[in-house]
Amino acid sequence: VATPTGVLWDRDLHTGAKHQLLRHYLEAWFLILTQSTWGAEGTTYVDAFAGPGEYKDGSIGSPIIALRAANLPQVTETGNPVHLLLIEEHQGRFEHLQALLSNETMHNDHCTWTAKKGSCEAVLTPALDALGAWSGPMFVNFDGWGVDTPFHLVQSVGGGGDKPHEVLVTFEAQWFTRFATVQDQGAGDSVFGDTNWRHVADLASAGEKRSFLIEEYRARLRHAGFAYSSVFELVDERGHELLLVFGTSEEYGIDKMKRAMWNVDPIRGSRFRDPRDPNQAAFELSLTDPDLRLLKEQILGRLEQGPATLSELKRFALLDTVYRAPHATDAVKELATEKRVSRSSGRTHDEVVVQLPTEQSLFP
Ligand SMILES: C[S@@+](CC[C@H](N)C(=O)[O-])C[C@H]1O[C@@H](n2cnc3c(N)ncnc32)[C@H](O)[C@@H]1O
Repeated sequence: VATPTGVLWDRDLHTGAKHQLLRHYLEAWFLILTQSTWGAEGTTYVDAFAGPGEYKDGSIGSPIIALRAANLPQVTETGNPVHLLLIEEHQGRFEHLQALLSNETMHNDHCTWTAKKGSCEAVLTPALDALGAWSGPMFVNFDGWGVDTPFHLVQSVGGGGDKPHEVLVTFEAQWFTRFATVQDQGAGDSVFGDTNWRHVADLASAGEKRSFLIEEYRARLRHAGFAYSSVFELVDERGHELLLVFGTSEEYGIDKMKRAMWNVDPIRGSRFRDPRDPNQAAFELSLTDPDLRLLKEQILGRLEQGPATLSELKRFALLDTVYRAPHATDAVKELATEKRVSRSSGRTHDEVVVQLPTEQSLFP
């Protein structure tokens, strides 16, 4: 897909899905963080690649989505400060964004914004210094074109992991081909922060290369202070793909992000994929009727390593798949009904031990 050159451009279907996800997530995030013990420090949302704030069809972009979520009465009524930092390097888009931001009605002065023209490489760190944002909660949306988020910026936001800081990094589909063939070493070193990713060249299959790059990136995130991360792909009906990587210092952040994700409206024509799935199966999102087929296979794979308690499988679902913890309970129930796992009794629900059926239990 060619990179747009004008001020506004058409919005892809998967961008629409990502915006829904962002809105669901931020509406929860601003409220939780402003009410938390950290709230008084000031909560900061950053769009490092802000864009013009809207699309050709008039639908709003991420900075306006974030501003409306931050400016909700229940957030500003906490009395704790919320600040948005929006960085855009293109002059026309920057001016367009500023005009849109100025037209938004603000409820009170607890919620404020700053728009900066320039590259995020040059602007992000000094602007966060000037705002005194480092000591409070922070969410940085790195939504560049393709694959252009320098790892050193992600790392500076992580700050070693002692603050509730979060990042959402978007990769366009070409990230995989570009790095899997080690075409562009300079870009790869910048995105991964070192040269270890180049070992991708030693691997044979596309599936192995993909898993390796994803795990490599998650390892870098952990090192930067984002102890928890979640990776998933959005695929639209024209086959365009977005890989979203979310990193957080707090485990509850993963559940909030997944809840937002499963809440994305399926009629948008966007499908969803676990990049770790060797079959690359795409499925619809549904909060009320989730497609558990992939999770069931992933749980069976996990049980090949040995029995696990339901509580361990819930944690596995949360941290190592695209599913939420409660999905594991439902998946195990279905697997047990299908006689593909057996369950021991346990004092509590979570203590139930789940295992692959022995030959005896399969053929009683
Ligand atoms: C994918 S668009 C952002 C879309 C926006 N986040 C949204 O969801 O509505 C990427 C934007 O980043 C801007 N950009 C590209 N490189 C940049 C950089 N190094 N620093 C800041 N902005 C950049 C581009 O001009 C473009 O407007």
